Amino acid sequence: PRTVTRDEDGELTVGNLRIGVLTKMFGTPLFVLDEDDLRSRCRDFRAAFADEDVYYAGKAFLCKAVVRIIAEEGLHLDVCSGGELAVALAADMPAERIGFHGNNKSVAELTRALDAGVGRIIVDSFDEIDRLTELARERGVRPRVLIRVTVGVEAHTHEFIATSHEDQKFGFSLAGGAAAAAAFRILDDNVLELRGLHSHIGSQIFDTSGFEVSARRVLALQAQIRDARGVELPELDLGGGFGIAYTTQDDPSTPHELSKRIHKIVEGECEGLRLAKPHLSFEPGRAIIGPAVFTVYEVGTVKDVDGLRTYVSVDGGMSDNIRTALYGASYSATLANRASDAEPILARVVGKHCESGDVVVKDEFLPADVQPGDLLAVPGTGAYCRSMASNYNHVPRPPVVAVRGDEARVIVRRETEDDLLALDVG
Ligand code: LLP
Repeated sequence: PRTVTRDEDGELTVGNLRIGVLTKMFGTPLFVLDEDDLRSRCRDFRAAFADEDVYYAGKAFLCKAVVRIIAEEGLHLDVCSGGELAVALAADMPAERIGFHGNNKSVAELTRALDAGVGRIIVDSFDEIDRLTELARERGVRPRVLIRVTVGVEAHTHEFIATSHEDQKFGFSLAGGAAAAAAFRILDDNVLELRGLHSHIGSQIFDTSGFEVSARRVLALQAQIRDARGVELPELDLGGGFGIAYTTQDDPSTPHELSKRIHKIVEGECEGLRLAKPHLSFEPGRAIIGPAVFTVYEVGTVKDVDGLRTYVSVDGGMSDNIRTALYGASYSATLANRASDAEPILARVVGKHCESGDVVVKDEFLPADVQPGDLLAVPGTGAYCRSMASNYNHVPRPPVVAVRGDEARVIVRRETEDDLLALDVG
């Protein structure tokens, strides 16, 4: 986070609070949310896309406090399950500012979304179009929908995160004609209100050329729909996926730079196709919440393995950050409770789970005097860490504490063994 610094003793601080104070109050492992940082990221996106809608992708991390913050900062919210919708509504997110995603929304979820009056539903299959059409007819409502289009772009990112190449479960294929057929079905039935097209090409993307190709292809479909049915769809959503810096090697664009490039592309294409520029929206998750959070762990053991490397075990691991094990993601770690002049040694920060793939940071230079009781901070853990956390090995999930100035408040409490046992009713 921007406001994380070290005090004169070399101890990490966030807001006006020292890390040792936070861990004394809340224990470890601990997710620390720098609220000012989160708010300033929201503002940067709002400012860069001033005439557009920015939907925070709640899958990255969602809780009521974060919903309230992003709502206050003028963002919209993208949810992709009944559970995420429930959190949004519990935090009084205005329903008209919610977009509802998912490739297999149930009748119960769609019904709830309609009853709540969500602003838009992004439809993903013919089955869903039929289901939603029937539900809307029964209720006499006219939900606004976008069509999720699979544009055939392979963004340069991990295979499991890339979502827009053709052979995958999301959306309607552009090349095969399914996307156009979906648009015609909705327009011809005239029960749902077709507002526009949607494309999300992947996650942790640095290269904007993927957005360029995707915008070109969806706008071509937009022109095809106009030519066939005389309708110009008023909206276009280009998804999320903006990359963040996990290590010093990553060099992400600012929202302002992204906005400039994307606008240029969209405006150029619209001119060429003689389309009015649609109202744009985006769905950044990681870029909003990722850098605003870091995890603090306590070191439990330090083991030198045959002079090869030092294994530093912390009190969490793959249950609070699965991304290293699952995607080979890169993180960094830093000694958080003190400064050290000891020489740097090559270390691997590992968790406490019963498998050898339980790695938090694969390679990191830590001071040679790192020892049990030290605190390690792993930055950039706001996105897809707490939200993908598990109870593997019956390890309770860590809390999230929001810090602002002198104030620290628990926004998600620590799970307890009683919580886990409460589910075990056998
Ligand atoms: N919009 C849609 C339709 C999405 O599917 C996603 C992410 C986003 C927006 C937000 O993407 P972001 O701006 O956060 O990159 N668990 C993986 C990431 C999965 C992303 C899924 N969809 C990870 O830990 O990297």
